[in-house]
Amino acid sequence: MIRQIDNAFILETDNTAYVFTVIDIGYLEHLYYGRKIRLEDSKTIEALIEKHEFVPGNNNVYNEENSSFTLNDIRLEFSANGKSDNREPFIEVVHADGSRTSDFVFESAKIVNGKIPLSTLPSSYDKGGECSALIITLADRQYDLAVELSYYVFEKCDVITRSAKLINRGKDSARILRFMSMQIDTDRKDMIFTTFNGAWIREMGRVDHELKRGRIVNDSCVGASSSTANPFVMFSEKSTSENSGRAYGFNLIYSGNHTEIAEVSEFGKLRFLSGINPKGFEFCLEPGSEFEAPEAVFTFSDEGFNGMSYNMHRFVSDHILRGEWANMERPVLLNSWEAAYFDITEFKLLRMARKAKSVGIELLVMDDGWFGKRNDDRSSLGDWYPNKRKLPGGVKGLSKKIHDLGIGFGIWVEPEMISEDSDLYRAHPDWAMKVPEKPHSPGRNQMILDLANPEVCTYLVNTLTDLFEIGNIDYVKWDMNRTMSDVYAPSLAPSRQGEAAHRYIMGLYGILDKLTKKFPDILFEGCASGGNRSDLGMLCYFSQMWGSDDTDASERVAIQTGYSYGYPLRTVGAHVSSVPNHQTLRVTPLETRFDVAAFGALGYECNLCDLDTGTLEAIREQISLYKKWRSVFQMGRFYRGENIYDGNTASFNAVSADRSRGVALYYRKLSVPNDQSGTIKMHGLEKDALYRFYNRPFKLDVRMFGDLINMIAPVHVKNGSAVHDLVSKFVKLDGEQEDYTVYGDVLSEAGVHLLPAFSSTGFNSRTRVFPDFSSRLYFAEKK
Ligand code: GLA
Repeated sequence: MIRQIDNAFILETDNTAYVFTVIDIGYLEHLYYGRKIRLEDSKTIEALIEKHEFVPGNNNVYNEENSSFTLNDIRLEFSANGKSDNREPFIEVVHADGSRTSDFVFESAKIVNGKIPLSTLPSSYDKGGECSALIITLADRQYDLAVELSYYVFEKCDVITRSAKLINRGKDSARILRFMSMQIDTDRKDMIFTTFNGAWIREMGRVDHELKRGRIVNDSCVGASSSTANPFVMFSEKSTSENSGRAYGFNLIYSGNHTEIAEVSEFGKLRFLSGINPKGFEFCLEPGSEFEAPEAVFTFSDEGFNGMSYNMHRFVSDHILRGEWANMERPVLLNSWEAAYFDITEFKLLRMARKAKSVGIELLVMDDGWFGKRNDDRSSLGDWYPNKRKLPGGVKGLSKKIHDLGIGFGIWVEPEMISEDSDLYRAHPDWAMKVPEKPHSPGRNQMILDLANPEVCTYLVNTLTDLFEIGNIDYVKWDMNRTMSDVYAPSLAPSRQGEAAHRYIMGLYGILDKLTKKFPDILFEGCASGGNRSDLGMLCYFSQMWGSDDTDASERVAIQTGYSYGYPLRTVGAHVSSVPNHQTLRVTPLETRFDVAAFGALGYECNLCDLDTGTLEAIREQISLYKKWRSVFQMGRFYRGENIYDGNTASFNAVSADRSRGVALYYRKLSVPNDQSGTIKMHGLEKDALYRFYNRPFKLDVRMFGDLINMIAPVHVKNGSAVHDLVSKFVKLDGEQEDYTVYGDVLSEAGVHLLPAFSSTGFNSRTRVFPDFSSRLYFAEKK
């Protein structure tokens, strides 16, 4: 609900309130954001307004008539450069006279129903009646520019979004140097700013910054939202934990260069800004035209980080993801990349597909290597026609054969790229982004297409439409494997090159909009060398993203935990791959690889044809179990366990919407000697309902015990010998079986104390054998 009381605006969701007011000089003073509070009239609002009587020392006042305060020490909803607010501004514009000073004041406000989409960028949506909007117009006192600030209130999921539009009402062009999406000022001095940083194969590492003074900047300037700094960030108090305390989450619906800045001013006020990264950005706003900033999304919860994540997950599910796949269960797939890399042929793919089908996999994805003359990463990007030597029947022929097996068929493409060694480049060298006549810094032997050029965009839409139609494609993995360098769009005038990176993203969105509308049945997965572009902008088109090229289960625990703060885990693809793992050479048990991947959109990415029958049987059982629990894993409410921070163990769980079923993961990185106890909690079940809590019966391989086998073997068995292997085929030990009847509140408050972990002495079927990188899944079913 949105209310106006005199000059104040109160934006309320079910549990939160966001309040600001128009002060005498026409600026917007931010008053409060947090748990819903009672505000009835101007008298009750007065307490929230900051009081000022004089200006400290060398600060400037706004004007003679209002000399009791400085803009430098006020909490603002929108700040500009030049009138002595010396903090990071929301907007910076160069006017025709060369001035960089702006002075935006309140002009009008209107409250309307429903979500108004942005016209140049993707934005959130509502299905009717779920959202109300406040649109504030500000006008510059000195220049003919106006700003429209739109606030959208999504009551049910406790989310508010903001977007901003700059309008040129004058006769002169203005040069935009920065135009952010979100600003919030508070006088809280004690907040923790959390960002999610990483690198290729190390995405989404949680970093907590204690804010004292100055700026902390989380940003990307590589042309994509990046694995270096995801646009999702949080603020919390020191005492906030997973299940209690105040937590704020902020995200941006944008996939290009972005920045999130937390700044503590000289007066101890905290400003947060997010939006397009001003670094390298400049946009010419011609008379009569408008510029839209991406939409920012934010939420608050006083039920800890899990509460905050729940709000974000609901918002992403109901107001970002769209199309048929938004809330549909994802199929279990097999991807050919780590199974065969570029060495794929129809024959090999069909063998894989048959094996896949036999273990219950529902879709085969043909990854890189199928087109042009692509045998490595040095050629053919842009030539999206099949390599007839590898696929004699083309994509169409292979697709038919795969469909005839009764499984779906997916394809890998990297449409935004062009190899120098490609027919496309030979025909259109000017379609690549590069500075004319200057050397280009190489990256994976490829260049980026100039998507600021509408001709290139049309070409891509047509080429891909043909491919998807001819191939009868069910799933598309849309990759993007290099970052921008030597940024220059040949289709733009030299004076417009500051627009290149943003126009590229707008061009990309235009292509994705057309293709996802043309092919609503296709499940699209976004990928950018793993998680180099995992953001809400992409999720407006793609229902999932390949969160990381790292398939090591142990690393994935951390990466998926990172994603889980801002993104529902069914939007993150997660695969079981072979060991030693291709990224880390680490060997983790097959069960751990499955248990971890089961909490994402599950797939396999290994050569099933090389696996022995025992392993295939284990995989078959995993997939059949997953299918029974898929709705809980993918659609359930997700909770991180409190132990997520101890560095060695991790737990998380998901609970079905009706709270009748729950599944939890318990993972330990390194085994701890003589540390028998282990407790697992499961959050979100009905407090007063009785559940059966159990783990899946399983067998232990005797080889895990190495030459300890000789403690019981009647004859000596050499560790690692053929005899050892043979014994392991016939002698299977029972793994521990936990089975209890518990109330929901016992599960969330006290937890279940598990059977003791193996500790050098003694082993029986009531011992939890838990060496390095072990995990278990535990299930709860309402009685
Ligand atoms: C990127 C992706 C991988 C794979 C390769 C193919 O690295 O992240 O999953 O598709 O490209 O070249």
